[in-house]
Amino acid sequence: MKATDNDRPRGSVMPEPHLETRFIEVDGVRQAYRVAGEGPVCLVHSGGPGGHSDHLRFPALHEHMTMVYLDPVGSGESDLLPDGDYSMSRYGDFAAAVLDELGAQTAYFLGHSHGGFVALQFGIDRPERLRGLILHSTAPVNAPLLMENATREMAAFVERWPSRPEAVDAGLAWKEMRAQEAAPVEKPADDLADASEAKERYFARVLPAYFADFRKTVADLGTTPVLRYTVDPNRLPVIWDVRNLLHTIQAPTLVIAGAYDFICAPVYARTIAAGLPNARLLELPESGHFGHIEQPGDFVTAVLEFTRATELAGGARAAETLPPDVGWTGLLTAHMRALEARHKSPLFNDPLAKTVVDLVHRATRTDPDVALPTGPAPGNTAELTETWYMLSTYIGVRTRYYDERMRAAAAEGVRQFVILAAGLDSRALRLGLPADAVVYEVDTEPVLRFKESVLDAAGLKKAGCERRPVVADLRGPWAAAVSAEGFDPRQPTMWLIEGLFMYVSAEGCEHVLKTVTDLSAAGSHVALEYFEPIPRADDVSTVNAAERAVIERIVSFFQSGPPLPPERWLATHGWGSEVTTIAREIAGHGRRIPEMFQNGRPHEVGLWLAHGRLESSRTERAAASR
Ligand SMILES: C[S@@+](CC[C@H](N)C(=O)[O-])C[C@H]1O[C@@H](n2cnc3c(N)ncnc32)[C@H](O)[C@@H]1O
Repeated sequence: MKATDNDRPRGSVMPEPHLETRFIEVDGVRQAYRVAGEGPVCLVHSGGPGGHSDHLRFPALHEHMTMVYLDPVGSGESDLLPDGDYSMSRYGDFAAAVLDELGAQTAYFLGHSHGGFVALQFGIDRPERLRGLILHSTAPVNAPLLMENATREMAAFVERWPSRPEAVDAGLAWKEMRAQEAAPVEKPADDLADASEAKERYFARVLPAYFADFRKTVADLGTTPVLRYTVDPNRLPVIWDVRNLLHTIQAPTLVIAGAYDFICAPVYARTIAAGLPNARLLELPESGHFGHIEQPGDFVTAVLEFTRATELAGGARAAETLPPDVGWTGLLTAHMRALEARHKSPLFNDPLAKTVVDLVHRATRTDPDVALPTGPAPGNTAELTETWYMLSTYIGVRTRYYDERMRAAAAEGVRQFVILAAGLDSRALRLGLPADAVVYEVDTEPVLRFKESVLDAAGLKKAGCERRPVVADLRGPWAAAVSAEGFDPRQPTMWLIEGLFMYVSAEGCEHVLKTVTDLSAAGSHVALEYFEPIPRADDVSTVNAAERAVIERIVSFFQSGPPLPPERWLATHGWGSEVTTIAREIAGHGRRIPEMFQNGRPHEVGLWLAHGRLESSRTERAAASR
């Protein structure tokens, strides 16, 4: 539906923002879509089938969600399906392909009218891809009974507006359409080209019945809406009924009905809401079939409240997937990186870190058993205690050290990056690496699973370069796992081994560095760091039991670390190196050296940061070792 004049209509649903059209292809058929906004992804599927989607735009939601406006196949700028088989599941295939293209594992699915049928079917076919359903003016069945019911509702509509000629004409147009459907006339092929226009003329007549008070809508918008339409002569009839499957759809659902909807009467919305285990129902009292146009404020508010509540519940559920054991240190690292934003001259900006802190905070607030803090409470702007100052300064400066090494390697032409023990590292997303760079992120399964869910929640998944998670235990034979994801040992590689070696035994460290070296071509780089000696809990001045518990937990994971000081250790594996200390780097950024790293203490704690470079080729190294 679109304004008939060139003036932009009023109202919060329209005007339609001008959005670039993108395309994906499934089996040679193109699906058009547009993307706007930030936050959790929401697919928007219009109805018809064949109706164009341009009336279904929600600029008021762009601040909160990534809205993905689909032109369902057989409408708008999308192709027609050559086989005419427009089943609900088939539409779902195209919607899922758009999600894949966007790198979104899950999404909300807002389906209007026939798009609501598709949304319900998507909930049955692909529950793992749904964050929630928004079922707008729709029904759980597409069968003759829907049209029979609509015929009765149309009669009630005409009776409601006896003195409005357009209402009487809408009733007539409906009757003519039904009669034609009952006794279809074979049309010559040439006429088919005009079929879409004929359908649009039909909708121009019948449209008043789709609104609670059409004249009011026209006055509110300042223009008469029109519905644009594509007729596909090959479209096969689809009878569809999921009433007995509603109980299987577990996704949180918002069902929205217009009290005066004649085509998908509120009775259907009530059936859906009663049948779904996790649904709430909103009836818009002054709306027909287009509640988002007729009561735009109420519509948008309901969607926002629903998605906020769903995200909050998701945050609570994240408690179940919080990385356990040493994976927890990745959360702590992210929290420390989020604190960098407090600094007047931050050394980097890590949007993922902030999202992690919010999620963990929500999760831990709801479950006291996992309430061990990973940093000060969000919103606490008081000066950092020594514990959090030490951890955030050390991790912040260390982060910047690795950022610089990774950027320099990219500038030198390196395109293959492997981040071992990647945790919640977001460099693939935030460093602006070249589009042809590939970043492998190696960590354990619970950590990577958690990371994917957080990236999804934050709508942050799309990296400029390619990001490939690799599940592996670095104590075992992990080379095959990286190779299986496409790692190429003939290319120079930049290895980042940040925040790992303190958690690994000397033997384990040897195994990791040996594997790295075996996989490295000449011109490869490695960046790493470790403590010497490993800190004890008493080396940190904690101010309360919670901080002490955090430090004790970190220390409990510490192991012996690498067998030799960094230059010598790297040299025994063939790497030249430059080595610095965290204290020197902290001072270099003009920041106070935390107590733990100050010289002259009874137990002096040092932390080495090293950058190694491998000049020799694998063959040269093999010859040298003979
Ligand atoms: C302190 S975090 C650092 C994460 C990341 N490098 C960063 O700086 O954000 C330590 C990470 O090492 C990972 N890790 C520890 N031992 C591991 C192992 N044996 N195999 C794979 N990952 C491991 C943990 O899961 C955790 O994500």
